[in-house]
Amino acid sequence: MISKTLQDALNEQINKELYSSYLYLAMSAWSEEKNLCGFAKWLRVQESEEREHAMKLYEHQLDRGGRVELKAIAAPTTPWKSALDVFKTVLSHEQEVSASINSLYELALREKDYPAQVLLQWFITEQVEEEKNAAQIVQQLQLIEERGTAVLMLDHQLGKRAKE
Ligand code: FEO
Repeated sequence: MISKTLQDALNEQINKELYSSYLYLAMSAWSEEKNLCGFAKWLRVQESEEREHAMKLYEHQLDRGGRVELKAIAAPTTPWKSALDVFKTVLSHEQEVSASINSLYELALREKDYPAQVLLQWFITEQVEEEKNAAQIVQQLQLIEERGTAVLMLDHQLGKRAKE
């Protein structure tokens, strides 16, 4: 049986993943308003991955006899000044999520909860990828310094993202 402390922490993380999904959906809407449809598509794929992350935790909680408590999801702070501003926010948000997953893993270690440790190892690996992707797009946007044609080329490239 999963401890109450870990159950509470998992419920917090479910909320953070659902907030991530909500944040990326807001960013996708902003991008589409600016006719950056490739950025919008990339962010929609990301948004759906975040819901999957929440559901992985949700299913683990229930499989272990824990109680899922869905909390209120905060409204994302909008709007953004530019595509670079959007992706800087993505990067800092993912860094916060990584720190949160790491704390959850430390808790699972202290609690000697081996199944939760295995689950969280997947998240730790996923966060490396998430931070890498966001940092790469930030660097590309910094390189092109918001020059119109180059932003459109990157928009085209990001629009090719398919769900993994
Ligand atoms: Fe579910 Fe982007 O972390």
